[in-house]
Amino acid sequence: MEDCKIAVNPWTTTVPPSPTMGIKLLADDMKQKGAVVYDFGVGEMNPEIPLPTAFYNGLVHALQNKDTHYCPSGGDLSLRTVLSEDLKRNFDLEYPPSQIVITPGPKDALFRAALAVMDPFAIRNRGVCFAPVYESFTAMPYLLTGKQAFVIPTDKDFLPDFNAFTELLKKNHEHIAFIIINSPNNPSGTVYSKEVLHRLADIIKQYPEIALISDEVYRTIRYDNEKPFSIASLLPNQTLLVGGISKEVSGTGLRIGFVAAPAKVAKAVEVLVGHFTACVNLPVQKAYATFLQEDKDMKIRTEIRDKLKVKRDLILDQFRKLPGLKDCVWKEPQGAFYFFPNIEKYYGKKTPDGKVINTDDDLSVYLLQVGHVVTLAGSKFEKAGYLRIAYASSNNEVLIKGCEELSNALAKLQ
Ligand SMILES: Cc1ncc(COP(=O)(O)O)c(C=O)c1O
Repeated sequence: MEDCKIAVNPWTTTVPPSPTMGIKLLADDMKQKGAVVYDFGVGEMNPEIPLPTAFYNGLVHALQNKDTHYCPSGGDLSLRTVLSEDLKRNFDLEYPPSQIVITPGPKDALFRAALAVMDPFAIRNRGVCFAPVYESFTAMPYLLTGKQAFVIPTDKDFLPDFNAFTELLKKNHEHIAFIIINSPNNPSGTVYSKEVLHRLADIIKQYPEIALISDEVYRTIRYDNEKPFSIASLLPNQTLLVGGISKEVSGTGLRIGFVAAPAKVAKAVEVLVGHFTACVNLPVQKAYATFLQEDKDMKIRTEIRDKLKVKRDLILDQFRKLPGLKDCVWKEPQGAFYFFPNIEKYYGKKTPDGKVINTDDDLSVYLLQVGHVVTLAGSKFEKAGYLRIAYASSNNEVLIKGCEELSNALAKLQ
């Protein structure tokens, strides 16, 4: 019998769990009972798009070379150097290796970046993000300070409400440590245009003490053929750019992220990595460096993007033609690998066993139970009325079949 009297930090029990957890438990239970489940819940490319061979070879080579010792906390110099070159060549960004810090994964990079600019005991201890939000953007500031993040609404195209944002900053700027943006976006697939980034930068630069964390983990997955453009080029002294290999090269389990930032902040992030992690695992750093050397022209990353585009188009095609799906309102995703249709038209309808669908959560659970399709409710991303469909990890046949099952299940609602 447990009789533990330790006073656990209450923020850890009151922070909302990861959005995938509830539905994943239900789906796992169904799979265990032998059901075929169409899993559009998980945000990764594995096993459909594997780690590129160049990366894999670099990893094997690093192990054979016994590159398994400690390295500097900021990261292996060979990786920081090629990352710096890659940022310059392919993203038009100038960061010397000393301003790029390697972290154990993008999520960790976000957390280190937040901690580097947020003193939990100072008055400036709030975060700001835009709905729909990736889970960590609200969880991070809460876990650091017990204070809720400010969540700015967005319009039907998922673009920021600039008036609300301007007003919030006017009233609360002394309390705000950081603002986070995420383009290409999880869960909506929205890509902020240059014009939107300029508008945001014009507002944010009026408050030079506030950090801007730009989560660009999907930066190479955009379908508009535009060259990647980062807000870091507009606000180099305020931006903490976060990237990593999870989504760019199907390396979710390998855990490498990075923060590129002004020198002072990069130093702070490096200190945090030194104390929390010592350094990130060296073989994967070596492998990432090998990969970037081989992918100087972004050919491999572009090929990955092209495969994802086929999947996106396939989903759009199904939503254009299948009954039940074709009447949903949706915006064509321009990047990342998520589709985010509005499903409010199903509110008030009854399932065959008489339950009323009142929320996006109700619909998501119904679609799993009846259609065997895993989706995530938009409310988990602070944007109720939507469903997130992650299309990267399934093969094309499964995507087609899964959409048909969605359509069949929706047809049964009265
Ligand atoms: C926008 C965004 N940022 C960061 C991450 C974190 O990536 P990882 O879980 O590989 O650390 C994710 C993962 O889904 C994401 O969607």
